[in-house]
Amino acid sequence: MSRLVLKGLSKAYGPVRVVDDVDLTLQEGEFVCLLGPSGCGKTTTLRMIAGFVEPTAGSISMNGEVLSAPGAVLPPERRRMSMIFQSYAIWPNMTVAENVGFGLKLQKLPAAEVRALTKQILEVVQMGHLADRYPAELSGGQQQRVALARAIVVKPAVLLLDEPLSNLDANLREEMRFEIRRLHDEFRITTVYVTHDQAEAMATADRIAVMNAGRIEQVDAPHLIYTQPRTRFVAAFIGRTNLLEGRLTKNDEIGLDGFTLRPAQLGQRMPDAAQPILLSVRPQAMSLSRHQPELREGWPVLPATVAQRTYLGESWDYVVRPQHSGLQLRVAAPPRQVHEVGEEVWLELDPQQIAIVS
Ligand SMILES: Nc1ncnc2c1ncn2[C@@H]1O[C@H](COP(=O)(O)OP(=O)(O)OP(=O)(O)O)[C@@H](O)[C@H]1O
Ligand SMILES: [Mg+2]
Repeated sequence: MSRLVLKGLSKAYGPVRVVDDVDLTLQEGEFVCLLGPSGCGKTTTLRMIAGFVEPTAGSISMNGEVLSAPGAVLPPERRRMSMIFQSYAIWPNMTVAENVGFGLKLQKLPAAEVRALTKQILEVVQMGHLADRYPAELSGGQQQRVALARAIVVKPAVLLLDEPLSNLDANLREEMRFEIRRLHDEFRITTVYVTHDQAEAMATADRIAVMNAGRIEQVDAPHLIYTQPRTRFVAAFIGRTNLLEGRLTKNDEIGLDGFTLRPAQLGQRMPDAAQPILLSVRPQAMSLSRHQPELREGWPVLPATVAQRTYLGESWDYVVRPQHSGLQLRVAAPPRQVHEVGEEVWLELDPQQIAIVS
């Protein structure tokens, strides 16, 4: 197992820094997702870790040894890393077993050992019964299992995956997410996983590094990325949210359009009174009711009107307008809680679930 450290890592193409001053440390056996929109620099970062791309500035080290720095890049084949690409990239002219055993053969292991290790890993990914098939005779998910087996069997120091599930349909993607996490729990290989799919990142990662325009905006455990986003970008990119601008009032509350709030976080992080404050209020942080709820200390209750609604199967997505306010808020409610458009309701906010973003 290996500890991987990226320090001030940058890559410029011409004047554009597509990876910009990235600092990231993976502990031994940790699984970190690089999550961000298309073009934010995820693949470039991964290719630098693998040794295919030379950094313009900064360094990559593993267990204290520098692998990459400007002008000094250890070639990919000497890094003991396995990489899996978006297209499965297993060899079409080799059977499943030959594909998986190939890396072991390169390591010059005796044939009997290659056979035994191959058999063992194929059982782990539930492909033992298909060892003699060719890739063209496999489904997309099966091919991806072979790619995983082939990457893991050589016991790499680091496993790198670039959108490995993007060619699969939605159900299979979900199944393979759990499969990838299960394999990680079994082998504990230090892993960097690139994706633009937040559900995939949430399901697989110990920590998520959210990237935007070449920079890492936040690195945290999945639930913290969701409940305590630190920037506007992270709040809006991960899940749906209401971003509200306010200002600190004289009694240390936050004044918004038509009402005031006192987020639980305020105690720890008193914002600057001169600056506007951005709050992230998730649709799940609010609830609607037909009758005025009992007042709870610190939980604002506002009369509001239902402006729009969408039935999503697993929940209702309501848009409500608090009275005496120009705000429109998206509120999630359980499927059996039905309100009509135009109905007057009571809106209650949970101060624990309101994040001060900046
Ligand atoms: N060899 C290159 N020459 C010039 N520009 C490049 C090169 N490789 C990548 N880029 C640019 O760098 C930026 C980041 O690309 P990268 O492939 O890292 O993005 P990504 O986050 O992986 O996106 P996606 O989710 O679409 O795969 C893009 O704007 C891309 O056009
Ligand atoms: Mg990419």
